[in-house]
Amino acid sequence: MVFEFDVQTISKEVAEASFSWKSPSNIALVKYWGKSHPQIPKNASISFTLKNSHTITKIDFKKKAESDKVSFDFIFEGKKKDDFKPKIESFFERIDAFCPYLKQYHLTISSENSFPHSSGIASSASGMSAMALCIMSLEKALNPSLTEADFNKKASFLARLGSGSASRSIEGPLVIWGAHAEIEGSSDLFGIPFAGKIHDNFKNYCDTILLVDKGQKQVSSTVGHQLMHNHPFASQRFEQANENLLKLTTILENGDQKAFINLVESEALTLHAMMLTSNPYFILMKPNTLEIINALWAFRERTQSNICFTLDAGANVHVLYPKSEEKMVLQFIEDELSRFCEKNHYICDEVSSGAEQLL
Ligand code: DP6
Repeated sequence: MVFEFDVQTISKEVAEASFSWKSPSNIALVKYWGKSHPQIPKNASISFTLKNSHTITKIDFKKKAESDKVSFDFIFEGKKKDDFKPKIESFFERIDAFCPYLKQYHLTISSENSFPHSSGIASSASGMSAMALCIMSLEKALNPSLTEADFNKKASFLARLGSGSASRSIEGPLVIWGAHAEIEGSSDLFGIPFAGKIHDNFKNYCDTILLVDKGQKQVSSTVGHQLMHNHPFASQRFEQANENLLKLTTILENGDQKAFINLVESEALTLHAMMLTSNPYFILMKPNTLEIINALWAFRERTQSNICFTLDAGANVHVLYPKSEEKMVLQFIEDELSRFCEKNHYICDEVSSGAEQLL
């Protein structure tokens, strides 16, 4: 049987080609935390695709004699970076069966992030999706009959094999990844754009990322995911996430901002509750993470703003708010929250429709 993601046809010769993509990071509203091999999530998740936090990757492909492994050089922000090679090597091993043509090329991969490398912002979603998109551009050159829908689906499928959340960075503004019984077309293998109607209240959302701790995390996401195996609350958590996702799809359609805030903040705290109750347990929040949350709650109480927060697997706080409140919220961040950030740094981001091809 031919698997959907096998290469269907190669009808063109490509001796040399260069492709470049700008691919964004994303922020999950319902979190993916827990997976099984190979990168199969234990529950469905949904995220806003971001814009300004992105990776730009260019791959130069040059045809050569076929080898047993993909041959490549990796240049990060202008410098050859061999310490990133093992992660990329294992990505190539995972996608080998679906992109066998890669072994007939030498790849020169040049990558840069819009955010500082040591900002505590995970670059795996933007980095892996950008790389998957460049590879798909080569596949499209080899097989021009590939449709845009199949291109995006396979790009998300490949990106997922690099990093789970990367599957949600191809399209926007909201992407669901993970098979959900009540969401048509949802799959564990790739992300799909949220197909429901999005209420005006949730269009053009902003995300200001407060950089509380730019250091290396003490526990990586990979280890965190593993600790969900034999976690005492795992099955309840996976069930809850799927229920929350369904609730959120209704909220996105009916525009209920209070319900949105409640669900999104609860998801963030539940993610960290899973870390607190893992064995071994760990804490990724810092004192300033809690200072920010408390100040944000007080501000919301005082102003009736629709601001809320979410967290990823680290100490940084993502402050989410509608574009209509941008001026007031940015003033609040500058006056009251920036002091809790390392060197007062924060990144203003917003929702986008996904990755863009540059070359
Ligand atoms: C907390 O996608 O970084 O950000 O699949 O091992 O690469 P791997 O993990 P990763 O995990 C992201 C976890 C999260 C929640 C989310 O983005 O849904």
